[in-house]
Amino acid sequence: GKVRAPTHIVSTICDDRGEEPTYAGVAMSYIIESNYGIGDVISLLWFKRSLPRYCTKFIEMCIMLCADHGPCVSGAHNAIVTSRAGKDLVSSLVSGLLTIGPRFGGAIDDAARYFKDAHDRGLSPYEFVESMKKKGIRVPGIGHRIKSRDNRDKRVELLQKYGRTHFPAVKYMEYAVTVETYTLTKANNLVMNVDGAIGSLFLDLLGSCAMFTQQEIDEIVEIGYLNGLFVLARSIGLIGHTFDQKRLKQPLYRHPWEDVLYTKYS
Ligand code: ACO
Ligand code: LMR
Repeated sequence: GKVRAPTHIVSTICDDRGEEPTYAGVAMSYIIESNYGIGDVISLLWFKRSLPRYCTKFIEMCIMLCADHGPCVSGAHNAIVTSRAGKDLVSSLVSGLLTIGPRFGGAIDDAARYFKDAHDRGLSPYEFVESMKKKGIRVPGIGHRIKSRDNRDKRVELLQKYGRTHFPAVKYMEYAVTVETYTLTKANNLVMNVDGAIGSLFLDLLGSCAMFTQQEIDEIVEIGYLNGLFVLARSIGLIGHTFDQKRLKQPLYRHPWEDVLYTKYS
């Protein structure tokens, strides 16, 4: 009989060998004819299944709300400087993307991991935050450079409202709120940030939509899918900033010396 030679690549999300490509088995024409949105496409290619509309709408909200946050944040700043150095779109984009990490936009997975672990172990906010402090780890999903108790992040409010209205349960997000209540007793800027809101609410989405086994949820959290939402979203803004600089014919950027403290003694 026929012997299948061992392959060098195993792949399970998209197949383009037939008449038309399929995403997780769903034909492209079906995707278009059924008015699927970008949230559905992400569901198919990342989670390998169609998710209910309230979930895909939440994914789309994350993408829309994180698309940009002005020229001063780490990613946009890098993209702007790179574009002004005469570099191309892809270089400017990746220069911005490379700033995404534990302090900026890339704290979603760790927020989900730490909130899940603390909640599931029944830690009080005090026990959780103080144990993190002892380990010298800042609580992912908490804290912001400009947002504070009196200047809340609208994105967080919008996501929380959506979760409370449309998700069957929001226990992880509500736990994160209790953590925020405690951290706010320490400093005014220790609010829940957009990474914390997305991380905790995505745990609630995964746990309550009845579409994932516990093993699958653990795998998603362990691998770390959720920073992908910020990476994808912010690419939209970074591309916009790159075009903006080129359209405005901005010259090479050089940082003003007045803004640098040069000292041999530090
Ligand atoms: N958990 C506990 N304590 C904190 C936290 C936190 N998440 N953030 C700040 N603090 C405390 C610490 O005591 C810190 O002192 P340290 O430097 O000795 O650790 C002190 O506040 C000073 O912090 P600030 O200077 O006010 O914070 P800064 O403005 O530099 O940082 C930042 C803001 C980077 C977001 C920080 O809060 C942080 O690291 N948060 C966790 C990571 C995170 O969630 N990042 C995503 C932000 S949202 C986004 O990027 C889209
Ligand atoms: C962002 O989404 O880029 C901001 O929350 C980060 C910042 O520093 O304001």
